[in-house]
Amino acid sequence: MSKFWLRLLPQSTFFTIVALMLWAAIGAAAAFAFLFLAVLVAFIGMLRNLSLIDAWLDSPAFESVPEGSGIWEEVFSRLRRMVRQRNQNQQQLEVTLRDLQQAIAALPDGIVILDPDGHIEWFNPMAQLYFGLDGRRDMGQQISYLIRQPQFVEYLAEQQNDHPCVLKLSGERMLSVQLIPYADRKRLLLSRDITRIENLERMRRDFVANVSHELRTPLTVVNGFLETLSDMGEHPDAEMMKRSLTLMIGQTDRMKRLVEDLLTLSKLENAENVLSEEDVDMSLLLKQIHQDAMSLSDKRHQIEVNVETKANLRGNTEELRSGFGNLVSNAVRYTPEGGKVTLSWKTEGDEVVFSVEDSGIGIEAEHIPRLTERFYRVDRSRSRGTGGTGLGLAIVKHVLNRHQARLEVSSQIGKGSLFRAVFPHSRVIFGK
Ligand SMILES: Nc1ncnc2c1ncn2[C@@H]1O[C@H](COP(=O)(O)OP(=O)(O)OP(=O)(O)O)[C@@H](O)[C@H]1O
Ligand SMILES: [Mg+2]
Repeated sequence: MSKFWLRLLPQSTFFTIVALMLWAAIGAAAAFAFLFLAVLVAFIGMLRNLSLIDAWLDSPAFESVPEGSGIWEEVFSRLRRMVRQRNQNQQQLEVTLRDLQQAIAALPDGIVILDPDGHIEWFNPMAQLYFGLDGRRDMGQQISYLIRQPQFVEYLAEQQNDHPCVLKLSGERMLSVQLIPYADRKRLLLSRDITRIENLERMRRDFVANVSHELRTPLTVVNGFLETLSDMGEHPDAEMMKRSLTLMIGQTDRMKRLVEDLLTLSKLENAENVLSEEDVDMSLLLKQIHQDAMSLSDKRHQIEVNVETKANLRGNTEELRSGFGNLVSNAVRYTPEGGKVTLSWKTEGDEVVFSVEDSGIGIEAEHIPRLTERFYRVDRSRSRGTGGTGLGLAIVKHVLNRHQARLEVSSQIGKGSLFRAVFPHSRVIFGK
């Protein structure tokens, strides 16, 4: 027998015994009248409890589950337990759903959920940023109305999107977007910013092209001389041979310098190559750089050194020498004979500055932001003519970055240029 009937048993047994006793004492009519009354009371109780449940169903909240009476008390208490359990489950589900939404929203990629007809059902903040979507206005809109690039519209129409599609957005931003089908013909539109990767790829291509070009020119020259010499047969003209050899040595020197500069750059760019630091004796370093400048100038310029501070630097002497040396060699090479080059070392607030000023040809403002790019030269033929590879300022930039210093450039065409390497307080050793 089920629990429900067992619970009814004491009450019905009691009524049956009372009815039997009435039957024995008064007669059958009294017993039936009693039973009729008992059933009527039970029925009214049942209707009352039913009306309670009916009222509760209008707004079935946990707090308002009715108390009930008699056997209904147990039914209602089970109902209360069930509602509580359901509420707890729902709360847990809401928390999980919120967590999941927050996790998707926090993804660095853009995500748009599309229904089978391409309408937007949901998107995360990254997708909002990439495609300029509006949370209220664009929900439910056709995605192809909002992203109108023809290649995207074509991509959207494809049956199978097993490859990503690259989109160029305003502001030079490049996006890789991919549609992924899921559930019942729904689609996820994933988008990822690939501007940096694309730029790196472009830089790599440019770099290979530049290196090849820089090496091919001297190689062609050397090759030409060798062919001429070999055409001369067994009795070459001694004068001609001497001139060719000198020119060939010049070209191979150029190639050697290029390869050395490339190796220096690659060492500086290698993140694993940590800066080995020491106390740099600036007065000695400035003396050496001055000497180098004088021998490069060969008395064609007036070279001055102004040392206004005894501060030294904490850093790598070799790297700093190569960086400073490049600024000075540029000043000498891009200043016509009779010009002036001034090196100075001074403090400015809590920073120290190494600067090189020249009275040379100057640089147009539009070129200044690009000077530290590899192989960037304002005037290629002039730079090559003076033995330049166009890697010098790229090396300077890396050396300064490794010392948390910055390069400041100002220049006026025909008047001269000023290059300043500004070192932060943390790199300065005062009073030694
Ligand atoms: N002091 C300067 N005056 C005028 N132009 C300069 C000066 N310094 C640099 N430049 C310009 O900036 C370009 C880049 O300089 P960078 O030092 O990187 O290369 P480079 O001097 O041509 O070759 P490298 O230094 O590798 O031998 C130069 O080609 C030149 O056009
Ligand atoms: Mg240079």
